[in-house]
Amino acid sequence: MEEIKIGLLGLGTVGKGVVKLLEQSATVIEQRLGKKIVLKKVAIKDLKKERDVFLPEGVLTDQAEDVVNDPEISIVIELIGGTDAAKKLTLKALKNKKHVVTANKALIAEEGDVVIKTALDHKVAYMFEASVGGGIPILRSLRDGLVANRTESIYGIINGTANYILSKMSDEGIEFDQALKEAKEKGYAEADPSLDIDGIDSAHKLKILTLLGFGLKVNMNDIFVQGIRNITLSDIVYAEELGYKIKLLAIAKEIGVEIEVRVHPTLIPEDHLLAAVNDVYNAICVTGNAAGQNIFLGLGAGDMPTASAVLSDVIEIARDPTRSFHEHMPMVNTLKSIRKIDEVISKYYIRLSVVDQPGVLSGIANILGEHNISIASVIQKERNVGDTVPLIMMTHEAKEHEICQAMDVIDRLPVVDRKSMVIRVEMI
Ligand code: NDP
Ligand code: HSE
Repeated sequence: MEEIKIGLLGLGTVGKGVVKLLEQSATVIEQRLGKKIVLKKVAIKDLKKERDVFLPEGVLTDQAEDVVNDPEISIVIELIGGTDAAKKLTLKALKNKKHVVTANKALIAEEGDVVIKTALDHKVAYMFEASVGGGIPILRSLRDGLVANRTESIYGIINGTANYILSKMSDEGIEFDQALKEAKEKGYAEADPSLDIDGIDSAHKLKILTLLGFGLKVNMNDIFVQGIRNITLSDIVYAEELGYKIKLLAIAKEIGVEIEVRVHPTLIPEDHLLAAVNDVYNAICVTGNAAGQNIFLGLGAGDMPTASAVLSDVIEIARDPTRSFHEHMPMVNTLKSIRKIDEVISKYYIRLSVVDQPGVLSGIANILGEHNISIASVIQKERNVGDTVPLIMMTHEAKEHEICQAMDVIDRLPVVDRKSMVIRVEMI
């Protein structure tokens, strides 16, 4: 049987998953591919570290260059992460005419242009199914299954760590820090978890989805990004009382000739399917002009789901290396432009901390009214005369810049004791 020799850079959470899955699925892969995949070399940083995977003698090395320069290796899997060593080694592998498979969304989002150009110049594949949605075959679905559609919108819960945190806070009433600690222990979080909780990882993935879904190249600076750091248990409870769940949503949607591309905590109706996506699960809701709404749901992080996506790319390349080098490249749409966040129209959830005294609500309502913002509902349950209480408001549709201006005035009122929380609402 023909052997395809591959090399692996990185043996952390996902790298170990790849080694395990290659072993577990060896027979299935051989039957389906008609070829044997042989892991020839694995590069890591620290040879002394304990590893709970078995590798034959001589496979493990701390010399990553040996992997990307090995003439027998035709496919390199990069699972180091980050944009430094990963970029250098990826470019080296591509220039050596090796196909590269990765889960590294940061590298694709930050340096994708140069890496993809290098792959095209050297007529090799650079494939990244695992970079979005863990084990969900979302990029393949956009590229192949939905290829005849004009994409109208993409709504994604695409960060497993953030979703794990928000759903644990909601279901178990645990605090943010405890939920983050658990997500780290399970291997979901990035080496720098602020990428997860500040929305940057979702923005990296949204950039990739926007390229495949809309054929639109966006700069990272054009994506409005807000994370979940400031979401409190009380926001989750109030949102649920109002009939919503809070999710970190990545949104790309067509509004005429413009596309909104944004990542932020979002209230979504509790009866929408995305509202039921919990723990480390990811879900991507894609609306195409012909296929309508399609929802892709699956495990969005972790060793084995991500390894599944990584190996799907390896197998695609092994099936037909000539087909895959050009086929993953989308056409670039130059007809659409990005709508600035100021222009977005949305409903809003507002949580204020105000002094409990007569006239406060009407004063705030007046300021909102002066900015063309109409209130849909108000909750003020607690009474604490003369001291502060939470005041929750839901607005009707309003313009983002008018909300920002109004909140700027409101937050400076003497009866408002700290910066208010404003969360956008999407009626998906
Ligand atoms: P880890 O931090 O767990 O593992 C990184 C690995 O890279 C380690 O084995 C480390 O070696 C090795 N490494 C670091 N620098 C070098 C270097 N210069 N040369 C050789 N090896 C090096 O990362 P993950 O497995 O979690 O993530 C890998 C990639 O997959 C990232 O891009 C991440 O964003 C992405 N991803 C992760 C998911 C997850 O659930 N964890 C899901 C989807 C994508 P050593 O072990 O010696 O320290
Ligand atoms: N840190 C990422 C997440 C890994 O939590 O979703 C998967 O890309």
